[in-house]
Amino acid sequence: MASGLFGPIKPIEVSREEAGHGLRATLSWPHLVALGVGAIVGTGIYTLTGVGAERAGPAVILAFAIAGAVCACAALAYAELATLIPTSGSAYTYTYSVLGETLAWIVGWSLILEYSLACSGVAVGWSGYLVGLIESAGVHLPPWMLAGPHAGGIINLPAVLVSVGIAAMLMAGTRESATVNILLVVIKLAALAVFVVVVMPSFNPANLDPFMPYGFGSHFQDGEKRGVMAAAAIVFFAFYGFDAVATSAEETRNPKRDLTIGIVGSMALSTTIYILVAIAAVGAVSYTTLGGSPEPLALALRTLGHPVVSWVVASAAIVALPSVILVMMYGQSRIFFVMARDGLLPRRLSTVSKRGTPMFVTGITCLFVSLIAAFFDVGEIAALANAGTLLAFIAVGVCLMVLRKRAPDLPRVFRCPAPYLVGSLAVLGCIYLLVSLPSSTLIRFLIWNAIGLAVYFLYSRARSMVRMDRPVVGI
Ligand code: ALA
Repeated sequence: MASGLFGPIKPIEVSREEAGHGLRATLSWPHLVALGVGAIVGTGIYTLTGVGAERAGPAVILAFAIAGAVCACAALAYAELATLIPTSGSAYTYTYSVLGETLAWIVGWSLILEYSLACSGVAVGWSGYLVGLIESAGVHLPPWMLAGPHAGGIINLPAVLVSVGIAAMLMAGTRESATVNILLVVIKLAALAVFVVVVMPSFNPANLDPFMPYGFGSHFQDGEKRGVMAAAAIVFFAFYGFDAVATSAEETRNPKRDLTIGIVGSMALSTTIYILVAIAAVGAVSYTTLGGSPEPLALALRTLGHPVVSWVVASAAIVALPSVILVMMYGQSRIFFVMARDGLLPRRLSTVSKRGTPMFVTGITCLFVSLIAAFFDVGEIAALANAGTLLAFIAVGVCLMVLRKRAPDLPRVFRCPAPYLVGSLAVLGCIYLLVSLPSSTLIRFLIWNAIGLAVYFLYSRARSMVRMDRPVVGI
């Protein structure tokens, strides 16, 4: 058993051999670009643009650019590792193969925050749009079932229902779900394009002055002020999801080609769209109007006198945001699946149905996602999801560089350009974003990881397949 500073290492050859055990290879790169964009474009741009404007002013444009640049570096690192280790599990699997089991566990535990809380956050955001649209049509449902206790309700039933519906689709089979996803991706991209085309003619440079009313890195958060980095740490939510593509590695027909195009392509497309949407929004409408709105894009359109287009964009959000939940839930079930296959989570989680889909684990994921969505606030959910994601991205940047040094001759189909520069930028950028999150989020993140480490030392460590030198077990 190979071992490193952070516990045993799962040999890369083993991870590569495991690819193909259990899950069916049904996807190719157009599905993956759709999966990537499906996960990336969502509540981040549709809803958090307002939160970002509140924290950074017009410089929310800069916040999007910074978060996008950091994610682009992480995406390049992901692409190299995903093609080198084309097995499900993404950052967790890479960390297991490069740094060791204990760190891999921490990363896997953090990925639960990324994938599950992203689902919950988007479900709550979606519910907000839906409730707004129903109410604007003059229908008033009992408030207790429309929001969690934080917003004066008891349970956010729409958010629960959308989570359960998506889980059912995933249980029906990957291929069908991915195909439906393509349609939803087209709808939400078309709505953003319409937004930019309709709003851009109202661009007024005066709206960008002052550009950074709250400064760049300046802080305090709950006593307000904030700054560009505080906004970047939140709108970072808008960028991730491309890593969900990497988690589908075992289900791609030609992992090397498909993953490269899937990850890099979906990331580049989404980043371009965000910058355009952000410029259009804060260029046409004062950031004070957008700040904190639960539906900033629809609000901007109404403010500029386009009520019908506003209605169309809001409807597109309602129809299409579930595609984000689809991809993130898909990614989460695969992470659980791989961790269970490694023995670190109960093995029951790695069973596959006759259709080739991990039914049981999708059910567990759905339960977790629904519980959080039912009772918590979208802003807090997003911030904590970001914390988990940032930690995973840091690990991926480190893995890229360590592996280049340790095994320079491995066959790399996709080679990250300037790996030490890109890897360092990914790691340092993510650390800066992480410390720019509200301190309440960081405390919750520490508690989450303390619980994770307790589970690891009390349960997982003793059951680790790699530790027992039995790493490969076909399903
Ligand atoms: N990037 C995804 C979104 O913005 C999680 O909704």
